[in-house]
Amino acid sequence: MTDLERTESHDAGCAEDVEDDSATNADRNESIVDRAREIIPGGAQTGLRAQAYDTGDVAFESASGATLTTVAGEQYTDYHLGFGPIVLGHAHEDVDAAARAAIDDGVLYGAGTAPLEVEVAERLVDLLPSVEMVNFCNSGSEATYHAIRLARAATGNEKILKFEGCYHGWHDYVDVSVYPPVDRVGERYPESDGMLSAAVENTLVAPFNDPDTVEAIVRDHGDDLAAVILEPVPHSVGCLLPRTEFLETLREATAVHDVPLIFDEVISGFRHSPHGVQGEVDVTPDLTCVAKALGNGYPVAAVGGRSDLLAQAGGDNESGVVISGTYSGSLPGLAAARETVDTIVAEDIQAYLTDLGDRYREGLTDLLEDHGIDGRIVGHRSIFTVQFGVDGEPRDYEDVLGLDEERFRAFAAGMRERGHFFTPNPYKRHHLSAAHDESHLESYLDAADAVFTEL
Ligand SMILES: Cc1ncc(COP(=O)(O)O)c(C=O)c1O
Repeated sequence: MTDLERTESHDAGCAEDVEDDSATNADRNESIVDRAREIIPGGAQTGLRAQAYDTGDVAFESASGATLTTVAGEQYTDYHLGFGPIVLGHAHEDVDAAARAAIDDGVLYGAGTAPLEVEVAERLVDLLPSVEMVNFCNSGSEATYHAIRLARAATGNEKILKFEGCYHGWHDYVDVSVYPPVDRVGERYPESDGMLSAAVENTLVAPFNDPDTVEAIVRDHGDDLAAVILEPVPHSVGCLLPRTEFLETLREATAVHDVPLIFDEVISGFRHSPHGVQGEVDVTPDLTCVAKALGNGYPVAAVGGRSDLLAQAGGDNESGVVISGTYSGSLPGLAAARETVDTIVAEDIQAYLTDLGDRYREGLTDLLEDHGIDGRIVGHRSIFTVQFGVDGEPRDYEDVLGLDEERFRAFAAGMRERGHFFTPNPYKRHHLSAAHDESHLESYLDAADAVFTEL
């Protein structure tokens, strides 16, 4: 096809949309998804987003408060919330106004600093116990990448230790043993083809919540370990609550061997608390990564921590670590972050979401019992999910293996039919935002009651 033909066929496609006034919204939805499938791998921006198609094709057109609207004009109460960032609700007026004001002043300067950068950094230093200095970036993956580079530079070591079931982003350093198949548990399992084997070999994995194993690994590898990284409450597999003894052992062992401890608070930071999980437990890491809820959906993230570690990226002759990024500190994102953080603190969003989350969990637990369904409800504060076919409190990745995936997909499909949207991935989770309220809770539980009857 020549460039000219390509342009013509593209124009023809657009014209068709414009001319086809009689097309129903449902047809338009189908047409967009079909077009996406032709030119976007899997028909969505990530494989995980494509999983939404498991319960029917869907293209979204708008979002407001707790509601998602599809191109077909259907409305859903949104429990997905973009995989977690939306903590105040979609299209939050004040956050968007702050971002718009920043846009009016120019979105990117790319030299020196800017007041917004300092103001958001100061808030992170005030709120997160481990944070003395801050570098901004645009995504959680960038933040964990930078954190590991800082740790490797400081220690001169290459190996890192992570935990099965914890996700820290898509890059080769960490995309290992997030969801290993049952026969690969305990190995270094690369989650993607195309990963650098040296990176995988330098990534040790351990079960979460096992203080003895972690102590032994840190002791045995203390001299060549650059960092230990974890989600302090792993939500990439629903929710594993950390044992105090595990976190304390981790802190002690890494301190003894001078190995930086990295808390990946990309999900938990500003969602569970403005102080992170590190503000709830008595363990302070050396480095912290935040993203998602920091900006209520705007692409803004940060790595923060001990000033001696962060200062390595000072950009002068003394500082050997390169942290770079054209869009780092992008002003609309920072404006959104400042407004989001201030709102979370001023309105005590954490208390509101914790209470609401507890009531979803209680309601679902009762429903499971009433219907005699084998399964459990897991979660923490504004995060919850149903895991079918398993019981007991999950403490590590192996406790999550064996959940009934088919039943969860059927549940997600039934809930979607009744107007409640969440990803049909059985290992993921529901999120709540400040826009969710009593009426959403009631309608969700009514729908779950009906779907449980069918299951
Ligand atoms: C705990 C955790 N860390 C890191 C990341 C990577 O963040 P991003 O998708 O913004 O690159 C994610 C994303 O889901 C996450 O859940």
